[in-house]
Amino acid sequence: MDQYVIKGGNSLHGDVVIGGAKNAALAILAAAVMTDETVTIDNLPNVRDINVLLQAIAEIGARVERVNEHKVRINGSFIQDVRVDNEFIRKIRASYYLIGALLGKYKKAEVALPGGCDIGSRPIDLHMKGFRAMGAKVDIAHGNIKVEAEVLKGTHIYLDKVSVGATINIMMAAAMAEGKTVIENAAKEPHVVDVANFLNGMGANIRGAGTDVIRIVGVEKLHKTEYSIIPDQIEAGTFMFAVAAAGGDVMVKNVIPKHLEATTAKLLEVGCRVEEFDDAVRVISDGKLQHTQVTTLPYPGFPTDMQPQMAVLLGMAEGTSTVTESIFENRFKYVDELTRMGADIKVESNIAIINGVARYTGARVNAPDLRAGAALVIAGLAADGVTVVDDIYYVERGYENLEGKLREIGASIEKVSGEKEIQKMILKIS
Ligand code: EPZ
Repeated sequence: MDQYVIKGGNSLHGDVVIGGAKNAALAILAAAVMTDETVTIDNLPNVRDINVLLQAIAEIGARVERVNEHKVRINGSFIQDVRVDNEFIRKIRASYYLIGALLGKYKKAEVALPGGCDIGSRPIDLHMKGFRAMGAKVDIAHGNIKVEAEVLKGTHIYLDKVSVGATINIMMAAAMAEGKTVIENAAKEPHVVDVANFLNGMGANIRGAGTDVIRIVGVEKLHKTEYSIIPDQIEAGTFMFAVAAAGGDVMVKNVIPKHLEATTAKLLEVGCRVEEFDDAVRVISDGKLQHTQVTTLPYPGFPTDMQPQMAVLLGMAEGTSTVTESIFENRFKYVDELTRMGADIKVESNIAIINGVARYTGARVNAPDLRAGAALVIAGLAADGVTVVDDIYYVERGYENLEGKLREIGASIEKVSGEKEIQKMILKIS
């Protein structure tokens, strides 16, 4: 496993450009196989999860042509097999999007049960409820989920919980079902809208994405399209919080400010300045932060994928704050790691009670999952001394060249591999 070695104390200045949204891209890549024509997708983030999914799509027979690291052409007409199972696909959550895509197009699919970050049980009962409601037979056996339908018929589905994955998966299958499907209590995340826009670009008939009622009228065939993924609001938020923690003045470019409203609101509450432009936000911070309260909620609420980063900020804010995690049941695993850096946080059920400390101290910590890993990097940027973040494999699942982008705006951070390189780097940057 590789590590980041970070020397804290540098403030951040300059411009950073945000890449395409990982969680939109994963679903769009799966949906791309639903046509037998060639689909071109641009602004893909070059991250591990994307490359794992592209490999799985190629393995079932689709033609995948990497035009460059951020652009791909996919042609699903060569698909021979609707079974998707390999050791890599089992590690990512988004493998389940191939179920909705293949069920919609071929009326059958067999995909390894999803993996993903260990932040809770991650059931897929709502996905299966939707597929069954459309007439599919759904079985789980030997670690795979198998779906098959003589006919896939549109229907009315009420999602008991707001679920991004279930909303998108059901929307994909319904796009090629017979008749009309209504999804109630649908997720409203920007990436749900992005997937709907992509499918409509292929000739689907989807209305209402971005609201809690999505109406789909199934079509026989989908056709080629060219599409560019929306900017990643979580990557953007992570950089905005890095400036808040380390102090500085940074222009975060290639963003949609509307998607960042909850993130921006919290930065203002803790005492940062944020200026909004058409496709950029400027964050200014003196590193002195005030306490506040935050609860994670489905969009447009404060995103759960920004929860660890928020806790890191509040851990160095004046006063006592609370972070309530209402989406996942086990998303505070990073607290033990942050405690090693001097944080004073107590977790009671799904609430973290945070007493701000003057400054973190550098330490060796492990990234327990993708967003927690990024949050520990933020803590290292602000800490006194050197921090080594281990298991950064998790971070690289969702952030492209995080260390390079941070260096560009003044951070002292290097990626190394193994004990010897760690020690060498610590000597070099101390
Ligand atoms: C997506 O996960 C994202 N992953 C997550 O981002 C993100 O945290 C989450 O949405 C919420 O925004 C991808 O898009 C690949 P959910 P997903 O279905 O779809 C429960 C990251 O860091 N639920 O909206 O799995 C579930 O347990 C990752 O990029 C069911 O009970 O999330 C959770 O409590 C982490 N049954 C809640 O709903 C189901 O069938 C929301 O989950 C599905 C979900």
